[in-house]
Amino acid sequence: MCGIAGVASFHPIGDRLYDGVHHLEYRGYDSCGVAFLNHNHIEVRKDVGTVDEVDSKETIRHLVSNVGIAHTRWATHGKVTKENAHPHLSCRADFAVVHNGIIANYRVLRDELLKKGHRFTSETDTEVIAHLIEQGFLDCGDVERAWVNALAALDGSYALAMISIHEPQRIFCARHESPLIIGVGSESNYVGSDFNAFIEQTKNTVILEDGEYGIVSKDSFSVKSLRSGEVLEKAITVVPWDSELSRKGGYPHYMLKEIHEQPQAVRNALAIASEQINAVADTMEAAQRVRLLGVGTTYYVALLGQYLFATLAEMDVPAVSSDEFRYLDCSDAHSLILAVSQSGETYDTAMSLRHAKERGAKTAAIVNVVGSSIARMVDQVVLQGSGPEVCVVSTKAALAQMILLARLALEMGRRRGTVSPTKWSECEAALAALPGEIETLVNEKSGLIRAAAYRHAHVHNWLFLGRGVYYPIALESALKMKEVTYLHAEGMPGGFLKHGTLSLVDDQLYTLVFVPPPAAGELHALTMSSVEEVKARGGFVFGFIFDGHEDIFDERLVLTPTHELTAPFLPLVAAQLLAYFTATALKRNVDKPRSLAKSVTVA
Ligand code: F6R
Repeated sequence: MCGIAGVASFHPIGDRLYDGVHHLEYRGYDSCGVAFLNHNHIEVRKDVGTVDEVDSKETIRHLVSNVGIAHTRWATHGKVTKENAHPHLSCRADFAVVHNGIIANYRVLRDELLKKGHRFTSETDTEVIAHLIEQGFLDCGDVERAWVNALAALDGSYALAMISIHEPQRIFCARHESPLIIGVGSESNYVGSDFNAFIEQTKNTVILEDGEYGIVSKDSFSVKSLRSGEVLEKAITVVPWDSELSRKGGYPHYMLKEIHEQPQAVRNALAIASEQINAVADTMEAAQRVRLLGVGTTYYVALLGQYLFATLAEMDVPAVSSDEFRYLDCSDAHSLILAVSQSGETYDTAMSLRHAKERGAKTAAIVNVVGSSIARMVDQVVLQGSGPEVCVVSTKAALAQMILLARLALEMGRRRGTVSPTKWSECEAALAALPGEIETLVNEKSGLIRAAAYRHAHVHNWLFLGRGVYYPIALESALKMKEVTYLHAEGMPGGFLKHGTLSLVDDQLYTLVFVPPPAAGELHALTMSSVEEVKARGGFVFGFIFDGHEDIFDERLVLTPTHELTAPFLPLVAAQLLAYFTATALKRNVDKPRSLAKSVTVA
């Protein structure tokens, strides 16, 4: 995730470009830069570091220009270097672009442009866009046509802003699955990833949609259809937010914002090139022993992976909690240890990897933070590209990791013949539909979940039950509830309950049951028998269910049925929201719960 700001004005823009990216730093902060029109050429100032660090070296604040774009980066393609920082220029420096998102077909586009003589100076996917526009301009002599043609050639997600010496008064902008908005000011107009880019200047905004592009100049703006070129009437939305609130994109807490960002986090995980998944699958195939590693939430992610490898690929891939790994480690040169870590800095996970490496094992990791210790120490890394996760409590990063493990398990199943071509296509379609399903759930069910959370905020003890793949979902959901509400919540397999814990059940202990869709057959039936066991002892049962006809529950949240591969992720998102709203009902410190830190770098 990265931040984009742009200004076209009758007045000097340095201060406002600086403020724009500074306020967007929560979206990414490993490097930043600006491009602006300086007489008849484009000047770029950029470097590695925070906006303040780059400003002190490169002077953003005092630049003299009336049109410019700026960017703060969260690296996905290419290391954190000055060359990879945005903006990126075309060969002749006629065009400069800033980008948020992932261009899935950038390798193909780059190869074509290389054949046409373009020279690349960075490792990023973004740079192809600048060259593509330049090539289009050389072919047709018209900036707008070159811009539209370039957008049509892009596959993937993007929010983009571009300036050109051939249209020196204008900023071109567009979006596809990444947000971008226009700010309408007085004697100035703006573009931004969100309202923070210009919130101190104007509250009047125009929200771009997929399939639209904008042209912004100091005294006007227009939005056009990408398909027809027709000018579109766009309403101006007045944002009633103060700038502190809007840093969280209008959400009261980062946790809620990050829950809402999950559709995009899933899209980003799905946009990661298959070659990267296949490379890890090759190592898995060659290994005699594979272990999944994580701790806290990432242990539960790994445990979910264990179920996916067993059910999709008939592979025995145990998950191990990295704080215990060293006592269980039997790895050797034929082993692969696949770790999962949001921060890439967690001591327990890093130490376990080191332990396994010393025994000669191969190592791989799914990591969110580019350039982190774990990303650097493993033999193979998959960068999940979920963007910065600010809330201490992990939500979007964990879900994206689950999606990547699902992709890997599917690939292993395909290779081992347990996933037929038909099943493969079905699962791919189910994964592609998931972002939309999460959006619907969050939009339509948040109110119900909030009401339930406020109603039950007095409950001190929760039991979260799930069976099969819903068991790690129950564990992770219980952890969310514990860490953010400070209430006791215990995740447990449904079948385990009767072997002891059932004695706790009374009218004070509330049970949340993760019920699979009825189509899951035995898994559904056995889960329902756990519900009966609790009900028979007078316990209150809250069901997260997919079938509205089931009425044994004291309370139900009915979710929209979907494919068996993706169904477990819907109650997970619902449980994140339940934990969040319970915490707000109890006035907890949601983004920084007591005693917890985002990356735990101690043993
Ligand atoms: C819980 C949570 C933690 C982390 C754990 C590992 O919401 O975030 O349990 O999952 O500390 O951290 P990473 O993923 O950074 O290795």
